[in-house]
Amino acid sequence: MKAINATPLVGSTVSIDRADFLSGKYAEEIQALLVERSALVFPNMHLSDDEQLQFARTIGDIHLVGGDALLQNISMDPKVNRSADYTRGAFYWHIDGANDPVPAKATMLSVRTLPAEGEGGDTLIANTYAAYQDLSDEDKKALEGIRVRHCLEASQRLVRPQPSLHELERWQSYPAQSHPLVWQHKHGKPSLLLGASCFYVEGMDLAEGNKLLCRLLDWSTQPQYVYRHRWQAGDFLLWDNTGTLHRAAEYPLDSKRLMRRTTLVGEESVA
Ligand SMILES: [Fe+2]
Repeated sequence: MKAINATPLVGSTVSIDRADFLSGKYAEEIQALLVERSALVFPNMHLSDDEQLQFARTIGDIHLVGGDALLQNISMDPKVNRSADYTRGAFYWHIDGANDPVPAKATMLSVRTLPAEGEGGDTLIANTYAAYQDLSDEDKKALEGIRVRHCLEASQRLVRPQPSLHELERWQSYPAQSHPLVWQHKHGKPSLLLGASCFYVEGMDLAEGNKLLCRLLDWSTQPQYVYRHRWQAGDFLLWDNTGTLHRAAEYPLDSKRLMRRTTLVGEESVA
């Protein structure tokens, strides 16, 4: 296995023998590299669904979406994705499963259909370990003990700013969480837990809290912390969902762009 840095702080391109990739021979190395580099690209893999699941099981347990789906189609087209409306939240920086007590460990995508030339649709991943690390000592001290309310309403309001009461009630029927702003991980590297699911900062004046969240999101998504993946046929992309933010760059909702996604069950509670 050989990895080349895509940028100084985030993202690596990994070359690996296909049989070794599928067998889990380098599972530990891949997981360590994931925490170090946030996002790993495996080019030219052309994985089948079964192969994607085989690899996923070498580094964790597969999160079943809707109770039974091992893989999801990521498309904004309602003909392909029953939850296309919900998926539009992916245009905004977020982490997967932020409204769960234990967010997903990692997320992986295989490209099935590339967006057409010039349509956009890159995937961007920001390293929030590095963003936290680079904060001033004063900032780090000020963030201690701060907690943020995360919920579906926050992210869905970005997609649909004026919901019907029925929609609002549906969003509010999903679980919400109180998470610390700084996630102290077992591996020792703290990260910032931010993104579209942030509703408000608990116990802080609303305007002050919103300003804090905005400032930290601006900070964390500066170019030096972001890897931008431009998709090529056969690409497989894996990221550490717990120490990153990610989003899709704008593309037309009727684009043929299609990804197959698998997420891994979280292994570490935030609190
Ligand atoms: Fe996502």
